[in-house]
Amino acid sequence: MKILIVGSGGREHALAWKIKQSPLVKDLYCAPGNGGIAEIAECVDIQPNDTERLVNFALEKRIDLTIIGPEAPLVDGIVDHFQVNKLKVFGPSKSAARLEASKVFSKEFMHKCNIPTAAFKTFDDFQTALDFIEQAQFPLVVKADGLAAGKGVIICKDKDAAQKALTQIMQDKVFKDAGNKVVIEECLEGEEVSILAICDGQDYILLESSQDHKRIFDEDLGPNTGGMGAYSPAPILTSELINKIEARIIEPTIRGMNREGAPFKGVLYAGLMITKEGPLVLEYNVRFGDPEAQAVLPRLKNDLVPILLASCEERLNEFELDWDKKSCVCVVMSSGGYPGEYKTGYEITGLDAAAENESVVFHAGTKLEDGKIVTSGGRVLGVTALGKGLQAAIDSAYKAVEKIHFESCFFRRDIGAKAFIHISQASTQR
Ligand code: AMP
Ligand code: GLY
Repeated sequence: MKILIVGSGGREHALAWKIKQSPLVKDLYCAPGNGGIAEIAECVDIQPNDTERLVNFALEKRIDLTIIGPEAPLVDGIVDHFQVNKLKVFGPSKSAARLEASKVFSKEFMHKCNIPTAAFKTFDDFQTALDFIEQAQFPLVVKADGLAAGKGVIICKDKDAAQKALTQIMQDKVFKDAGNKVVIEECLEGEEVSILAICDGQDYILLESSQDHKRIFDEDLGPNTGGMGAYSPAPILTSELINKIEARIIEPTIRGMNREGAPFKGVLYAGLMITKEGPLVLEYNVRFGDPEAQAVLPRLKNDLVPILLASCEERLNEFELDWDKKSCVCVVMSSGGYPGEYKTGYEITGLDAAAENESVVFHAGTKLEDGKIVTSGGRVLGVTALGKGLQAAIDSAYKAVEKIHFESCFFRRDIGAKAFIHISQASTQR
């Protein structure tokens, strides 16, 4: 088979690495890819939002399956364009991708389907939103409706902060049209986890759980980022909780999207807050998480390609997934300054030494320049390791991190640490 992956991050490198292992695959392409992907796939210089060129490339090369990594092209409807051209493509339609494209849609959808989520109101008028926060309880959360590169959610501890957030989003239009509408919702307390399911419109298969680390600094301090590291499985999720999440969230989402006339295919990512009252949905994404994919895919024993094909062909009920019992940890190494401004173009050394034993280094913001791998983005690498138990995986991942060098490199030193409270609770309960 010939496979095309669209995207250029650590998630796409993890997908390429997993897909490359499939005996079904003859040629693997990635558009546009990165410095690490270039070592295992042919990188094609087409941007993920250039739907027309991607369709033409897939037609010309007779690609058997295209996998869309990031959300922006999905939200723009790339899947619909591929399908019109009779090309097989893994991901949701534009209509189904509204679960991530519009927070107003997703909140109203959850309300309609009785899916547990934070209490909320939606607004398309600045003054009405301002009037609402006059008598609201704080803290609360203001969210721009549309895609805002992970920056459209503002937690407001008082009225002043909420007024400022509303002004930035709805008046100053810092996120452009993504801020035409807002959601204002109750601020939830708890621990965040990610549950991903591969779906075919009717059926779904849950992937193993994972936990991201969204803040830049240790102990979850500092601004939000795309994700600074992840581990799988997430020990906070007992099998009882997973059953609850499946019954109250995943199943009703799949059934509800069918009723909306937008059957969900591809990866449904439920970002959850585990509160005292149980799991509540913070957001949906319509793709693999990044860096969650890097921590989950190395644990999957099945060949991924038949599963992705089955999603496209509505035959997921034929599959059961087989998981490595080991834990997996991914530590993101970023450019100093990220998620703010940072410099790029620094040579990265130690990559070969780091990728030993059960470690693999997924590239994100890297490129190949004059035969050297150099930094080219905020999140640079996802250094990933399997281990018998979480501590062993953490130790191996950080051992590999220590071998890698580039100027002004930054990484969190506590990836995985927050899981131990649940591991010790589980052992005392036994
Ligand atoms: P979202 O893009 O909706 O996932 O929001 C980004 C981040 O903001 C989440 O990962 C949470 O850390 C935080 N967040 C979103 N909604 C809430 C909420 N209702 N209460 C507390 N934190 C939230
Ligand atoms: N790690 C968060 C995301 O993929 O959106």
